[in-house]
Amino acid sequence: FSNTVGIDQDTSYPINDNGGFAHKFNGIGGLSGGGATSRLLVNYAEPYRSQILDFLFKPNFAASLHILKVEIGGDAQSTEGTEATHMRSENEENYTRGYEWWLMKEAKARNPDITLIGLPWTWPSWIGQGTVLPYENKTLTATYIMKWVKGAKEHHGLAINYVGIWNERPYNVEYIKTLRKVLDENGFSDVGIIASDNSFIPTSESILHDGDLAKAVEVIGAHYPGTYSGTVAQETKKPLWASEDYSTFNDAVGAGCWARILNQNYVNGNITATIAWNLIASYYDDLPYKRCSLLTANEPWSGHYEQVGPLWVTAHTTQFTKPGWYYLKTTGHLSKGGSYAALTDGKGNLTIVIETLSHDQSICIRPPLPSYDVADQNVTLTLGGSFKGVVKVLNMWQSQLGQASTIDSMFVNKGKVTVGSEGEISLFVPTNMLITLSTINTAMKGSYPMPPASAAFPLPYTDTFESNGFSEAYNFADQSGKFETYYNASAMDDHKWTLRQVVTARPVTWCDDPDLGFTVIGDYSWSNVAVSVDVKPEDTYGVFVALRVDKGGCDAREASGLFLWFMTNRSWVLTTDIMRENRLQRCAIGWECWVTEFQEQEWNQVTLEVSKDTNVVAYLNGAKILEHTIKKEDAVPANGFAALGTASFGKAQYDSFTVKPSS
Ligand code: GAL
Repeated sequence: FSNTVGIDQDTSYPINDNGGFAHKFNGIGGLSGGGATSRLLVNYAEPYRSQILDFLFKPNFAASLHILKVEIGGDAQSTEGTEATHMRSENEENYTRGYEWWLMKEAKARNPDITLIGLPWTWPSWIGQGTVLPYENKTLTATYIMKWVKGAKEHHGLAINYVGIWNERPYNVEYIKTLRKVLDENGFSDVGIIASDNSFIPTSESILHDGDLAKAVEVIGAHYPGTYSGTVAQETKKPLWASEDYSTFNDAVGAGCWARILNQNYVNGNITATIAWNLIASYYDDLPYKRCSLLTANEPWSGHYEQVGPLWVTAHTTQFTKPGWYYLKTTGHLSKGGSYAALTDGKGNLTIVIETLSHDQSICIRPPLPSYDVADQNVTLTLGGSFKGVVKVLNMWQSQLGQASTIDSMFVNKGKVTVGSEGEISLFVPTNMLITLSTINTAMKGSYPMPPASAAFPLPYTDTFESNGFSEAYNFADQSGKFETYYNASAMDDHKWTLRQVVTARPVTWCDDPDLGFTVIGDYSWSNVAVSVDVKPEDTYGVFVALRVDKGGCDAREASGLFLWFMTNRSWVLTTDIMRENRLQRCAIGWECWVTEFQEQEWNQVTLEVSKDTNVVAYLNGAKILEHTIKKEDAVPANGFAALGTASFGKAQYDSFTVKPSS
């Protein structure tokens, strides 16, 4: 491995534990949520679902994550969709909603030592107590979080390690202290508090100025710190975490970003844990932040999933360390660019991770990356301290990053490197390389047979909403409100199992959710399709069915498409927007267009079809109610998702949902 030909300068870097260790390492993790990022994962068939979970969590296999952070759902939009709350009122508790409980159990089953973290983005309405913040009644809010921790333990056997405050939103010092007190009083004094999932300042200043707050907070978590934490944060002596980071499209540059920040978060910022947003791209590509993840798995209908660079970048650290190891003081920058981090378990094991990512091959979504240079270089590491003469060989694993990177060229076992008699190891390190040298012998590049080929969302598609073991119907991605499979015990017709929008009041939001329920499904490229569904408004102003819906996420309010609304005052309207402002046609009571009465509290069958690109037709209970030819000035999107929704927060049910190509 010494190939110094043609290189003019050798630079030597000491690696030793002289003078003790530096900081404790807390791990590398992934974030499910913030929000609904794992939505499509649950309906992957076996064996693919288990394979995907192995790639993420199985030790010595692939990403082998140390930390799983999940969203504590609040029934409101948190980026790719809404996640369910465990309490829809102060007196209601349910620990079977959503998929985060399931995901945490799958992670724990693979790695019992995995660290579990919960953090809310949004809150159910009642937590606001009439305000748009969760701090009006601090004990109430703290109890809500404590109950999530307790529910995890009692219903799922999951010991939560940390909870946070409110994602990227203002923290409240009194609330943090109340949360600490409520956790302690209920037997959860071992559950740490991370504050405040935003930036190191002003959280660190608050902690330095308030001894009680300092006692309440265990970890300072900042988002997208750009590898720096600053002197004030370091003065607190608290563990400093990048409690959310990455968020970059998972191509070669995304892998480069992840490799650079995993090393440099520590080297530049003494940041001892880094959590990727997000864990897995199990959300539709046409929602925001496509594939900003450690693995892509958003085709449950085909079973197709994709290993991506960031998965194998993660392995370079995770498979050779564990939380509780220590960073050595001897970490730093390489003279021609790049960095090296070194860790030990304090029992003789040593892991060194070297990265030489160039600027252009490692840009993350945020913050901006100042320019710098990297060149091919010779690196000599000199083992000293307790490692000298003891560590004689190191396993070497290497990933080619940058544009030349392929999955095959990543996480390659390069065999053993012999340490010289003076403790020296000499390597030629080209740019855009990621190298691990370690005494750990258990690393593996795990693999499974190639998953099925990618395929489009299948048509025709039907769902009658029989239970699938989860609270939500397969493939629907809620963008406002929450749609759950519902059992009508007393139903005498074939509407026993239905899909029901259940959010009845505006939550404490993180985005500007529209004041209604809205869920999307299918293939964004759909233009000429017909959607049919049985609808039954309960206590909403109305319901809608839509095609060519072009937006979700925090932009849900701006969604355009073709929306057909049936209001409970028995009017209907066809609009091009979810705000019901741009009307193409409408019909009010008594008008001639009124062919069939729309029945509130009853089932009505609705069909909306677009054919030949511009021909719109709709039926209510079998009778044609409208025809429309789309004109350019209508500004209807050319394609988009199918969608269902309500005209306000409030309950409504849906059944026998079908999408098929138009005739
Ligand atoms: C973060 C947020 C995540 C997600 C991400 C996208 O600020 O916490 O939920 O929206 O940005 O980059």
